[in-house]
Amino acid sequence: MNKNVVVIVGTKWGDEGKGKIAAHEAKDAKVVIRATGGNNAGHTIIYKGQKLPLHLVPGGITNPNTTCIIGPGVVIDLEVLLSEIELLKTCGIEDINSRLKISGRAHVILPYHKELDELYENLKEHPVGTTKRGIGPCYADKINRIGIRIYDTLLSPNKLEEKISEAVKIHNQEFKNNNMEYAIVDSKTLAKQYTEYGKLLKDYITDVNPIISKAIENNDKIVVEGAQAFRLDLDHGDYPMVTSSNPVVSGTLCGSALPPQALNVVIGVDKAYNSRVGNGPFPTELPASIDKNGNVIENAKPKEGDIIRELGHEYGTTTKRPRRCGWLDCPILRSAKFTSGIDYLCLNHLDTLGQIGLKLGYVKVCTSYKYKGQIINYYPDDINLTNEIPEPIYETLNGGWTIDSFCKTYEELPELAKRFIEIIEQASGIPVKYLGTGPENDDLIIRDNI
Ligand code: GDP
Ligand code: IMO
Ligand code: MG
Repeated sequence: MNKNVVVIVGTKWGDEGKGKIAAHEAKDAKVVIRATGGNNAGHTIIYKGQKLPLHLVPGGITNPNTTCIIGPGVVIDLEVLLSEIELLKTCGIEDINSRLKISGRAHVILPYHKELDELYENLKEHPVGTTKRGIGPCYADKINRIGIRIYDTLLSPNKLEEKISEAVKIHNQEFKNNNMEYAIVDSKTLAKQYTEYGKLLKDYITDVNPIISKAIENNDKIVVEGAQAFRLDLDHGDYPMVTSSNPVVSGTLCGSALPPQALNVVIGVDKAYNSRVGNGPFPTELPASIDKNGNVIENAKPKEGDIIRELGHEYGTTTKRPRRCGWLDCPILRSAKFTSGIDYLCLNHLDTLGQIGLKLGYVKVCTSYKYKGQIINYYPDDINLTNEIPEPIYETLNGGWTIDSFCKTYEELPELAKRFIEIIEQASGIPVKYLGTGPENDDLIIRDNI
């Protein structure tokens, strides 16, 4: 079998800049696939100078020769998808009708999933801090075999109504028990509405397997644009503070309908500092003026975390929440390398870290942890049991740097930035092949000799 698949995955808690490298890799790709999650993701790409925050459609859509697939592993909010298609058309992106394909096996996020997401978060003593987009409840219905699939929106309203009625028997009871009468589902109205969406989307809905198998047969490049990231993985992340899908490489292959033998290269994506939205452990997190509801405290004296957030514009693409910020964590990279078989690293925001260094007078990188009295270089599995967050051991570099727009090779980078990259390569065991030096698509240094 031809090995023509490049998978791009996040290595931390999301928002590492996957959209940008995915758009770059898509330039010579025939097919780009989104495999996991839904509109909890927000991937920023720049198209003709405009910022495009995409939540469902792969960033490869900006390349006129690429077919973009929303794979069977994705959960889709049809209203969000329809407005995203409109936005892309308004931006002048052509042939969307023939280039965007939606797997009929993907599942549909319905309004009651969003209500349930809100309800479950409100009932918890330790909420996950979900995006409240209905992701978890939609996947839960899929696993309970009461999910509504994209194919179902092509049924008659009566047939879809039957399926929805079956699905909401228990949910309606939950709404009643929690005084949420307003959320009780009227299956008939919903079925009518969603079969209308089905009509609007019918040209995009298809069996994606023939497209993928033909691309493999022809040895055409296929790119998987991973969403979310390693530490948010349902099985390999910080359970229960995770998302409800498997964004590690094996999960993305499953969610794309790709045979593992076709895998060629895995690109892990990270930032030169780290960030997290939502709750859960973050060993290298820095203090910041954010209250317990996740809002920035106005007029407070800026702490290290606030300085990184402001310089990196670290506010959620999807929810606009301020992101928690901290230093880059190499032990997690080493664990991500193992779980996802990462070949190369794409390290974004090297420019921002330089500015952070100039402002603070130093930058740090976590090279190992102290955990249970030992020095370790991987992310431990049992922190829920020990209640101990691994203590970062840092290497510190004094000063910062500025990356000029004419700097297009690794050799031209400031010495301190190169030293920073060497430390990461050594501590993580992953060669840094791609370097993000700014938000624009061209702000990318590629080391061809790696
Ligand atoms: P994704 O979810 O992994 O695709 O990442 P997001 O789009 O949520 O967040 C990444 C943000 O960083 C976006 O606003 C990008 O435009 C921006 N970005 C990506 N790479 C770089 C870089 O190298 N430098 C700077 N300054 N910004 C970058
Ligand atoms: P991209 O692809 C950052 C996080 C949420 C929350 C947890 C569970 O843009 O990197 P969910 O709504 O999925 O049930 O929330 O997962 N989360 C992300 N954080 N980037 C993402 O995607 C995320 N997708 C989910 O913030 O902590
Ligand atoms: Mg994002």
